[in-house]
Amino acid sequence: MISTYSLLLLLIATSSLAFSAEAALATGYYDSTCPQVEKIVKAGVANAAQSDSRLPASLLRLHFHDCFVQGCDASVLLDDTPTFKGEKTAGPNNNSIRGFEAIDAIKSSLESSCKGVVSCADILALAARDSVVLSGGPSWEVPLGRRDSITASFSGATNRLPSFFSDVNGLIKSFTDVGLTAEDMFTLSGGHSIGQARCLAFVSRIFNDSGSGSPDPSIRPSFLSALQSKCPQTGSLSSLQPLDATTINKFDNQYYLNLVLGKGLLHSDQVLFNTVGVARNFVKAYSADQSKFFSNFAGSMIKMGKLSPLLAPKGIIRSNCRVPR
Ligand code: HEM
Ligand SMILES: *[C@@H]1O[C@H](CO)[C@@H](O)[C@H](O)[C@H]1NC(C)=O
Ligand SMILES: *[C@@H]1O[C@H](CO)[C@@H](O)[C@H](O)[C@H]1NC(C)=O
Repeated sequence: MISTYSLLLLLIATSSLAFSAEAALATGYYDSTCPQVEKIVKAGVANAAQSDSRLPASLLRLHFHDCFVQGCDASVLLDDTPTFKGEKTAGPNNNSIRGFEAIDAIKSSLESSCKGVVSCADILALAARDSVVLSGGPSWEVPLGRRDSITASFSGATNRLPSFFSDVNGLIKSFTDVGLTAEDMFTLSGGHSIGQARCLAFVSRIFNDSGSGSPDPSIRPSFLSALQSKCPQTGSLSSLQPLDATTINKFDNQYYLNLVLGKGLLHSDQVLFNTVGVARNFVKAYSADQSKFFSNFAGSMIKMGKLSPLLAPKGIIRSNCRVPR
């Protein structure tokens, strides 16, 4: 009787152990199957950044745009074909997300070293971390073991990603809708410490804010005139301006200091300071304390990286990140 009972306990214990080992991401996931993975991704990011100083920003954003749409499953990397509609042309991505060639190059090095082992979704998560580190920001251990989708969601990419004309409540909702918090939003917005935005994304607020006929009054006058001359109403809406014009490619807390000074580029950036309440308190705290920003940023990136991952036996390991097989 006792032995049957202990056998049962043993069975329950082993099966739940197997279940939990399989159902969670883990650092060191590739230790035995691809021990060089972290080294290869890091070298690939550094190599690509050498010829394109914007690339770390673009790779950070790719991981974000991946995770917010059906989870961190590399759906953002899938190319459109005549019979497959991916996420690349959805409004928030169209003519905007980039870095695919760098991911392809990293994937092909990984395929040479450990064929069929490392997912494209894990490459995105590692590349985002390596990009932040390369830009002078914090580091963190990346839990791994995501697998790749065979589907993408154009409508998810259209509706789930936050919009640059949102106010604080709308921005918070985009984050809580996927299972993150308002604090994660205040913190991850600091990703705009690096990278560029098209004039398209802020031209209305520098000339005719919300149809008022005048610029957004919260923009510092010297910054406003600089932006107006760089993005004239008659000019190209695809020309670029840095999201943090003070320390362009450096990942630091200057983004938050800019907001305090009325030098946020996007409406969705500046509202974090303009809206009295918790958002403003975070902006002030981060503008005064870079190490607090860095440690919270690392924590929120790990959380974002865990949004609905595909775990074995679900999903696949793509051999080409652009193709769903
Ligand atoms: C909070 C809501 C957010 C909104 C409304 C937003 C919106 C935008 C927009 C409009 C651009 C410029 C795109 C273009 O003109 O082509 C941009 C760029 C960027 N975003 Fe965000 N974003 C948000 C959150 C985030 C988060 C959470 C991250 C990462 C942690 C991030 C990282 C970036 C980076 C690095 C760039 C520059 C990319 C490059 O230069 O290639 N953003 N974002
Ligand atoms: C994406 O941009 C192209 C222009 O490069 C445009 O023709 C197309 O309509 C856009 N797609 C969507 C879905 O907005
Ligand atoms: C500002 O935008 C509004 C609404 O789109 C428009 O009616 C108005 O004519 C614009 N004003 C100027 C000065 O461009």
